[in-house]
Amino acid sequence: MRDGVAEVNARVSRPEAPLTSSSGGQIWQADRYAKHAHFVPALAQPVLDLLNPQPGERILDLGCGDGVLTEKIAACGAQVIGVDAAPDMVDAARKRGLDVNLMDGSALSFKHEFDAVFSNAALHWMKSDPDAVIAGVARALKPGGRFVAEMGGHGCVAAITVAIIAVMRRYGIDARPLIPWYFPTVDAYRGRLERQGFIVDYIELIPRPTPLPTDMAGWLEVFAESFFGHLTAEQRAPARDEVIDLLRAVLCDERGRWTGDYIRLRFAARVV
Ligand code: BEZ
Repeated sequence: MRDGVAEVNARVSRPEAPLTSSSGGQIWQADRYAKHAHFVPALAQPVLDLLNPQPGERILDLGCGDGVLTEKIAACGAQVIGVDAAPDMVDAARKRGLDVNLMDGSALSFKHEFDAVFSNAALHWMKSDPDAVIAGVARALKPGGRFVAEMGGHGCVAAITVAIIAVMRRYGIDARPLIPWYFPTVDAYRGRLERQGFIVDYIELIPRPTPLPTDMAGWLEVFAESFFGHLTAEQRAPARDEVIDLLRAVLCDERGRWTGDYIRLRFAARVV
């Protein structure tokens, strides 16, 4: 999903390899995601508990990715449909036998058919029009239906973001408008939900230092590739190394284990 700034940046980007799938300049490859980012669904138990899916419920998994959590929700006896904007992730989810559609999160096409909409680690990628996303969720829900989700919250990956901005500046690029993520405060997101007719039962910002299964190079490859697409092919590897070098002092321990400076925003709301 692109906003105006991303469109401008897309025009100046010089991708080094064909993109398997992308949204907002972000490239999604299911195999790479499974290798470097399997912690994302693995850490989702608290938001699944908050969803508390019941047998027979109809549930939409918004931004379902490769379907790891969609499958877990289905295993509770719910009837789950997944949507994702990345073709490679949709393919991976379908290989699990799940009912998944390729769909832009800001243009959901469902009307009053779900008991709940669930989303994990996806809403922060839908930066261009968060209100359109929330409006689509409200429309998709039956009256009284619930919206239960977790996303990056205000301050999430701040150190990583500042290191990228600092290094890109050395290459003559202002990376601030290129940030692909929307990490709202509690007040900002609560306000958006309430303006779309939701009652917010719970919303909290949760600092969650997150051990990375591989390393910072793997994290940058999966989640931050869109920044480096604005450099020449020759500049990319040295720029990534500079970012990693800056971050080593604060996010890597004495045994070489990396931690991501994650902050989550978790909420449960009901549409009236
Ligand atoms: C996530 O998928 O949870 C995430 C992605 C990029 C930055 C921070 C969090």
